[in-house]
Amino acid sequence: MSDDKERTVELHYEGGVLKLPVFTGTEGESTIELKTLLGSTGMTTLDPGFGNTASCSSKITYIDGAAGILRYRGYPIEDLAVHSTFLETAYLVIYGELPEPGRLKEFSDKLRDNADIPAEMGAFIDAMPRNGHPMALMAGAVNTLAAYYEDSADPEDEDQVELATIRLMAKLPTIAARIYRNSIGETPIDPDDSLDYVDNFIRMTFGDKAPSGELGDLFNKAVGMLLVLHADHELNCSTATVRVVGSAKADIFASVASGINALSGPSHGGANQAVLEMLEEIRDSGISIEDFLEKVKAREMRLMGFGHRVYKNFDPRSKEIKVLASQILDQHDSPDELFALALKLEAAALQDSYFTERKLYPNVDFYTGVIYRTMGFPTNMFTVLFALGRLPGWIAHYREQLHDPAFRIARPRQHYVGSNERRYPGQG
Ligand code: CMC
Repeated sequence: MSDDKERTVELHYEGGVLKLPVFTGTEGESTIELKTLLGSTGMTTLDPGFGNTASCSSKITYIDGAAGILRYRGYPIEDLAVHSTFLETAYLVIYGELPEPGRLKEFSDKLRDNADIPAEMGAFIDAMPRNGHPMALMAGAVNTLAAYYEDSADPEDEDQVELATIRLMAKLPTIAARIYRNSIGETPIDPDDSLDYVDNFIRMTFGDKAPSGELGDLFNKAVGMLLVLHADHELNCSTATVRVVGSAKADIFASVASGINALSGPSHGGANQAVLEMLEEIRDSGISIEDFLEKVKAREMRLMGFGHRVYKNFDPRSKEIKVLASQILDQHDSPDELFALALKLEAAALQDSYFTERKLYPNVDFYTGVIYRTMGFPTNMFTVLFALGRLPGWIAHYREQLHDPAFRIARPRQHYVGSNERRYPGQG
């Protein structure tokens, strides 16, 4: 952000004229600073869904929604998806630079050393309802990390925040896999420190049933790439939640658990599950794609996996994911019916003025579910995989906020439209 206070805009209101500074971001975007608005004019701004509001300055992720650009720390997502491993990307997102080989090894070793969870925590996860939604269970488990690891829960202590960073990154795959094993009535599998991050997660999840050889390599590549594509997305709902909770100086475990809860919603990360359920419903009901789209246009439902608050062009992640889906599904002898349906649905929607006029394109969630399903993940685990990918972003934003000189507790204003003062019944 430029501190060139010479650029201003003028707000003309009944009481006079207020000059407001305009900041220029590194990509040339302009932001009007409203800090003095309330004090000077007595007025607030109303911006439902924060569609127009920058709540902080950030150096982590750049998105140009109109041009379909997404970059982590300046690196285009297309390059990271193809050339970077998830751990490299996670390091980049959290610490700001791609790691030198030595640094990467050190990071990876720390994660291997911390992948275990305490026995009591394992017992706690095992005691949770096994048929419960894995996102609810995961949020609960992550919340308790602050209780198991009080020595890394102080946001004011940089060393503790760093230790908590490692613990969260290391333990989330172990927690997620354990929840999955419990849900299918299988014994949890402990982490294996001879495996890399992604392989270890796949093995803890599927055990002996994990694919090996060429297919195993392809699965590892696909999961790794999907995690990279989800690693950050600036101030999306769950990341904004992590920042809001963290702004109260809540510890990082509580803040990330809140992010997991926000992600679970079907308008956000829960959409990958909702897309697959929608495709299954279309297949099972036998409704034609045209009739289904008519229902969407009549607002009986939303076309899940379509639309985005920021992208008003193709979501660059969805392009990468579509290619990946074809690669994975090519491994199968018969074409995947839901993938074929998704392709037809996309093509029909993109020919329809309802979607094109509103600039509704497939988002990151449109094809991910089809890939995860082919790999053998049950539908309700899809959003858990999103969470594993998004974790570095949540951590990076939490940490960035702690060092932001403009840091204040998040406390929006409201536009009150309720009753004026009323007499309590019987009080005259
Ligand atoms: N299907 C049908 N109509 C839609 C859709 C959709 N998926 N998305 C937006 N619209 C329409 C909406 O009805 C509105 O029409 P009108 O102007 O006539 O009232 C217009 O497009 C603008 O929609 P909006 O609700 O104001 O847009 P938003 O920025 O508030 O919502 C969204 C963004 C992602 C919540 C929304 O597009 C949506 O619900 N999509 C389906 C759920 C989904 O796929 N979510 C995943 C988002 S990407 C990953 C993530 O964030 O986790």
